[in-house]
Amino acid sequence: MSPIISVSGLSKVYGSGFKALNNINLDIARGEIFALLGPNGAGKTTLISIVCGITNPSTGSVTVGGHDINGDYRAARSLIGLVPQELHTDAFESVWDTVTFSRGLFGKPKNPAHIEKVLKDLSLWDKKDSKIITLSGGMKRRVMIAKALSHEPKILFLDEPTAGVDVELRKGMWEVVRALQASGVTIILTTHYIEEAEEMADRIGVINKGEIILVEDKATLIQKLGSKRLTLELQAKLDEIPAALAPYNLALAEGGQQITYHYDTKGDRTGITSLLSDLRTAGIRISDLDTEQSSLEDIFVSLVKRS
Ligand SMILES: Nc1ncnc2c1ncn2[C@@H]1O[C@H](COP(=O)(O)OP(=O)(O)OP(=O)(O)O)[C@@H](O)[C@H]1O
Ligand SMILES: [Mg+2]
Repeated sequence: MSPIISVSGLSKVYGSGFKALNNINLDIARGEIFALLGPNGAGKTTLISIVCGITNPSTGSVTVGGHDINGDYRAARSLIGLVPQELHTDAFESVWDTVTFSRGLFGKPKNPAHIEKVLKDLSLWDKKDSKIITLSGGMKRRVMIAKALSHEPKILFLDEPTAGVDVELRKGMWEVVRALQASGVTIILTTHYIEEAEEMADRIGVINKGEIILVEDKATLIQKLGSKRLTLELQAKLDEIPAALAPYNLALAEGGQQITYHYDTKGDRTGITSLLSDLRTAGIRISDLDTEQSSLEDIFVSLVKRS
């Protein structure tokens, strides 16, 4: 199926001359939850703002539901709900009015039943007549989500939806997002909580200094997480791995002074015992060993450091 969002060759140079995005190419599949990770200033909000038509791209093109965001702005924008990173709501309006007004902005006919459902899903129903100013930070954030859902968008952007939201509420939001996905909405979220990406996303993208440096299925990443690495320091330098040890897929490093072995911690057996005994048989002596497990966080940190 064709992607619901297609970004190609997208770059952004701000008026200050700062290049915030450099040649971004990214397709978002219909119905997926895509998590965009990256350090502060990486370009996440800039990318979202361009797709949502708030910021102009410098070069490149974006289509949303097949509509070009420049040529066919209205059609593209009507498919999108955006929960921006910065909270801004009219403090003295009631929850009900502000959410109803948001729907009106998209030229959609009134639909009180839909607004009621959205407020109930977000546990805001008992606050519907409260002025925004009287709500807590977490409640205000949920009002922003309600506003973004008011016009029944097909795509929802959540720019750090759970920043400053307590653990319980955060889990509640994850459920709301999952329910939205089940109803056919495509979701793109940014987060600084790796755990959130692990929990929610079908795919994970990492952006750093304006460039996408990784896009991968979460399942593939998790598989990498489930694997551990055993490093063996050798007493004597080795020119090559003996053929008898081929089944272990060993790698030789540090100029033949080190062997690394990957094994699955979730498997029935790690193969370490037989590896050690086969090494001994092959006459390879070990001076030291070490094991290491990578987490999504490690992968993220090392990716960002490297680039
Ligand atoms: N209007 C602007 N004019 C000039 N530079 C800008 C503007 N908006 C953002 N930038 C710069 O572009 C870069 C990317 O900013 P952006 O807000 O997209 O980052 P981010 O990944 O969303 O970061 P965070 O995790 O802190 O929200 C930053 O260096 C920022 O200072
Ligand atoms: Mg941001």
